Amino acid sequence: MKIMEIEGGRDLSGTIRISGAKNATVALIPAAILTDEEATICNVPEITDTDALCDILKELNVDVKRASESVVINPKDMKNVEIAEAFSKKLRASYYFMGALLGKYHKVVMYFPGGCSIGARPIDLHLKGFEALGATVKSEGNKYTVEAEELKGANIYLDIASVGATINIMLAAVRAKGKTVIDNAAKEPEIVNVATFLNNMGAKITGAGTSTIKIEGVTHLGKCFHEVIPDRIEAGTYVIIGALCGNPLKVDNIIPEHIDALLSKLEEAGVQLEVGADYVLVQKQDKYTATSIKTAVYPGFATDLQQPFTVLQTQMTGKSKTTETIWENRFMHIPYLKELGANIEVKNQTATVLGPTKLTGCEVVATDLRAGAAMVAAGLKAEGKTTITNVEHILRGYESIVEKLTNVGAKIKIKEV
Ligand code: UD1
Repeated sequence: MKIMEIEGGRDLSGTIRISGAKNATVALIPAAILTDEEATICNVPEITDTDALCDILKELNVDVKRASESVVINPKDMKNVEIAEAFSKKLRASYYFMGALLGKYHKVVMYFPGGCSIGARPIDLHLKGFEALGATVKSEGNKYTVEAEELKGANIYLDIASVGATINIMLAAVRAKGKTVIDNAAKEPEIVNVATFLNNMGAKITGAGTSTIKIEGVTHLGKCFHEVIPDRIEAGTYVIIGALCGNPLKVDNIIPEHIDALLSKLEEAGVQLEVGADYVLVQKQDKYTATSIKTAVYPGFATDLQQPFTVLQTQMTGKSKTTETIWENRFMHIPYLKELGANIEVKNQTATVLGPTKLTGCEVVATDLRAGAAMVAAGLKAEGKTTITNVEHILRGYESIVEKLTNVGAKIKIKEV
């Protein structure tokens, strides 16, 4: 088991370079099997979610070569075999193989995906989308068989603007016959990145980034070279850490517009920011004003940044609220923040934080990926030593987190125990 130890209360100064986006990468790797030729994806983060998807590719007899920050995928000898549960349950995004394999072979057999326990996380909208394209879905316990004689374009309205369902339907529809229209599509930047990748391979997708995506099916997809966009959640996490400890901290290689909602809220709280074309420089202040947030689909306040933001709320003067609207179970970090000294009450889907409170290091748990990021932020702010267990969650989504933070002056290490 891995644990993380942080000696907190230190100022952080210097530059943190943001890696490629996890949530784009985890869709791009499965998407790459839609061609029969080679796809090169660069700016790929070295995180365990990337490893898990590359392992699935190998199971499918796909040739995968990894060099620093790039993955070259060649599916010319690929075999459409059942994806074992041990692989699918390692991460949520394994479900993108459903859309990709269905799109390519008209058949996929795999198990319900894993991922963080932040809510029920059903996949009904994905499956309804596949059915609308002409597939039949059979499930036996956790195992799903989705197949179609032919995939035909369709008009699909999503009841919820789901990121996963939007991408998965897009993957299944690119090689379907005719035109597919996805209405109430999600608009996250990762979706645009995946659509650009598919279009570079020869797909005909328009409207990605808006709530209506149109896909004209094609019979063939070719070779391509693609770059993953910067990770807006990693960027936002470090900007929040900068507001807690930055003196000053530069978060570099980002697209600042992707974290506009966070930056506005930080300004409202009184955080001093300099926003450049591809960086944000953040200087911590002694006093912050209580600021409330409510999570929403993009371009609203990202649910994935809600947990780290609550750490900053503990340093604001007065009563701040965080309302979670996307996931039912995303306050698992709160009991640990309270152990560190925070004054927080959770009622229904709202956490009310009374601040400022001093944080003091203790033993805490990373209950999920972003809860883990919140524990890192809190541990860096807290006086004394914070020990975080279940660090595996954090390593699923934050590349070289120890090195990046050490380089700016943090005392942080991961130990095998
Ligand atoms: C993605 C992100 C995750 C982020 C989330 C919301 C990836 C790998 N993960 O997750 O980090 O927190 O978007 O921004 O990109 N829903 C259904 N039925 C479905 C699908 C979703 O009811 O078939 C519901 C979910 O339970 C949730 C909401 O829709 O309440 C949004 O989920 P969705 O956008 O699909 O999230 P993911 O794609 O799983």
